[in-house]
Amino acid sequence: MPFLSETLSRVKPSPTIAVTNKARELKAAGKDVIGLGAGEPDFDTPENIKAAGIRAIEDGKTKYTAVDGLPELKEAICAKFKRDNNLDYTPAQVSVSGGGKQVLYNALVATLNEGDEVIIPAPYWVSYPDMVLLAGGTPVAIEGTLENAFKITADQLEAAITPKTKWFIFNSPSNPTGAGYSKAELKALTDVLMKHPHVWVMSDDMYEHLAFDGFEFCTPAEIEPGLYERTLTVNGVSKAYAMTGWRIGYAAGPVALINAMCKVQSQSTSNPCSISQYAAIEALNGPQDFIAENNKAFVRRRNMVVEMLNVAEGITCPTPEGAFYVYPDISGCLGKTSAGGTKIDNDEDFASALLEENGVAVVFGAAFGLSPNFRVSYATSDEALKEACTRIQAFCKGLK
Ligand SMILES: Cc1ncc(COP(=O)(O)O)c(C=O)c1O
Repeated sequence: MPFLSETLSRVKPSPTIAVTNKARELKAAGKDVIGLGAGEPDFDTPENIKAAGIRAIEDGKTKYTAVDGLPELKEAICAKFKRDNNLDYTPAQVSVSGGGKQVLYNALVATLNEGDEVIIPAPYWVSYPDMVLLAGGTPVAIEGTLENAFKITADQLEAAITPKTKWFIFNSPSNPTGAGYSKAELKALTDVLMKHPHVWVMSDDMYEHLAFDGFEFCTPAEIEPGLYERTLTVNGVSKAYAMTGWRIGYAAGPVALINAMCKVQSQSTSNPCSISQYAAIEALNGPQDFIAENNKAFVRRRNMVVEMLNVAEGITCPTPEGAFYVYPDISGCLGKTSAGGTKIDNDEDFASALLEENGVAVVFGAAFGLSPNFRVSYATSDEALKEACTRIQAFCKGLK
């Protein structure tokens, strides 16, 4: 009998982490590699937030806390939801975990039974389908199209809903495309959901504050108050506050669901790091102006990357509204052979030849459920991005 569980055998390791590790290994071996795989800001955590963490250590706030978060942090989260999203939540409706990832995982483990379906628009953040599988459910992908900037339509959502659908996972701005749904686009989706009261909504708003060119972020429970009672609104401090390593994510929703998520956490990890929770209070309650400053750098980098990639032969790259990713289409590169002799039949061939031959690490589209594409994370220096895009242009030019 195999030692590992059948459930685990259906799950794959995170391909984004694999690419990041591969690039790190090649660099350590002395190879000139530019990594565009990592999904984290290159900025440092702001000083006031770091100071709050240091103060927490010095003040001895280093003990267990309430399983799903300090009351002060839950208050700060409620204030954030009111301020940014005009959503009213009480602390009893809030759960805090070790990152947005754990929040999502807790919610799925707490609610899925075998056969339950979870609708996930593709391309998707790599972890959604695997987390659904780990929790015993069945992921159902709906594919966005390049023509619609990788967003799904109301008709597609309607067609995917079955009596077994338990959750619809929504993520805007999106990882991996950066695409953001406008209020009208989201309303069209929530109108569909209003017709199907058995479907719950998990809105992953992790990139809320990374929105550019006047794009107005919106979240389902805000756009359609009728969904409030069956929506889990998920967010975290990782991306907007450059706090990926601190591991704090949170969600708000109906009390019964929040209590069930707390039960999962109480029997797995208990509370998220106490020090990080104090730092997160400062992140949410403290000055927010550096977010706009960081966004200026992100917009500058996005514009450069989109422009340079669109010059590369065989690549089409839409301009996204947010996050720090672009998701170029490489249809024009397929069937060709690279200068180093690799036949490019799919986006995985493209990404591995690009890494081996020109030293640029990107994540291939199949990992995100929509091909042929690759994801670029532009959360790295302007110089590195320029050099990487020049190398991608050279790689594409070499395809014959
Ligand atoms: C769409 C999306 N959701 C959730 C997460 C998880 O974030 P955290 O670092 O808070 O676990 C990520 C991180 O990459 C993400 O891209």
